Amino acid sequence: MMLSNKTIVLGVTGSIAAYKAAEIASQLTQAGARVNVVMTREAVEFVSPVTFRAISGRPVVTEMFDLASEYSIEHVSLAAAADIVAVAPATANVIAKLAAGIADDMLCCTVLATRAPVLIAPAMEARMYMNQVTQENLEKLKARGFVIVGPGAGWLASGKEGLGRLADTSDIIDSICQMLGKGSGLAGKRIVVTAGGTQEPVDPVRYIGNRSSGKMGYALAEAARDRGASVLLITAPATTTEPAGVDVTRVGTAQEMCEAVENATPGADALIMAAAVADYRPARKLEEKIKKTEAGLTLELECTPDILSAVRGSIVRVGFAAESSNLVENAKEKLQRKGLDLIVANDVTAPDSGFGADTNRVTVIDREGRVDSLPLLSKRQVAEKVLDRVAELLAGAER
Ligand code: C5P
Repeated sequence: MMLSNKTIVLGVTGSIAAYKAAEIASQLTQAGARVNVVMTREAVEFVSPVTFRAISGRPVVTEMFDLASEYSIEHVSLAAAADIVAVAPATANVIAKLAAGIADDMLCCTVLATRAPVLIAPAMEARMYMNQVTQENLEKLKARGFVIVGPGAGWLASGKEGLGRLADTSDIIDSICQMLGKGSGLAGKRIVVTAGGTQEPVDPVRYIGNRSSGKMGYALAEAARDRGASVLLITAPATTTEPAGVDVTRVGTAQEMCEAVENATPGADALIMAAAVADYRPARKLEEKIKKTEAGLTLELECTPDILSAVRGSIVRVGFAAESSNLVENAKEKLQRKGLDLIVANDVTAPDSGFGADTNRVTVIDREGRVDSLPLLSKRQVAEKVLDRVAELLAGAER
């Protein structure tokens, strides 16, 4: 996972929204990050440092000259160790200080001293946010490469509705993941991911489908996005929420998916086919709904086009293989037959694995015949493992 073992400085400033920073610290910590919280003097008026100490399990910095703290010369050591600095919530005051380069507290010193990317999540009263000075300050920070997340619109502590609410925790954490991902091998790459289960019409109301939830493909699209890739998700029907920050093309049938992939792959660096594509479709699509008869019904099926085999050009190809027996042999045969660089095989009979599950137990096999059997992992973790291999293959192709 993108956050595990990352060191994050979370700057908390004196806004009513400071209590929401506790949730941010908690989620980052649970995802495996080391969270060093730096609070301004005003922030301490809103939330006790004890809260952040307990949530992060690490010392919290509140003073410029805190002799009891474990950090040596604090702003320097905090700034140097940080993979990212996130100021959430950021008041108009701290935004002004950062824009002007004023360094009269630990947080501003740390931001000034760090070479890590900086995220700012403003939270303030609507008129303060809309004020030209604040807007100019935010523009200055943007021009320096700071990433500004939010604010959102809605109820404000002043009792009025307006722009100024701290962005949602999930948006802040997504942005942190994306910023961390920029350095991990897929920045600037174009990745096409397919997902979901195709539906092959039988008549106007019926289709042949499968149990794909889309979770694996969507996790791949999100993980590739977070690593800085530009992602096109070609999705057949799925029961999962489509990820933000990726291009999405919706398709129904295998034929439509085939056309969308053929259009998308010229110029792409990798194609990851996580979709459950129907292997057969009704030979004829009937325009009228089939009537029920006592005689029963025989449907004639024909093969769908094999999408992976149809894709040409020097692109990294990754296929999935849902198997119920002889996992490794069947997957190796598929890798050869479809001309793949990598195949991700999963035993659909294993518990908590495959269609619909949040977790997956997969075996990754490459052209050299290396077989990597992974433990039961979340689909996002599986996605990270697959993308590590895709990044290796792309780096190898560049050499
Ligand atoms: O042969 P099988 O359907 O098991 O192969 C699975 C892999 O091939 C998956 O990556 C799937 O997305 C892809 N596939 C395809 N075109 C098809 C059927 C499957 O590209 N018509």
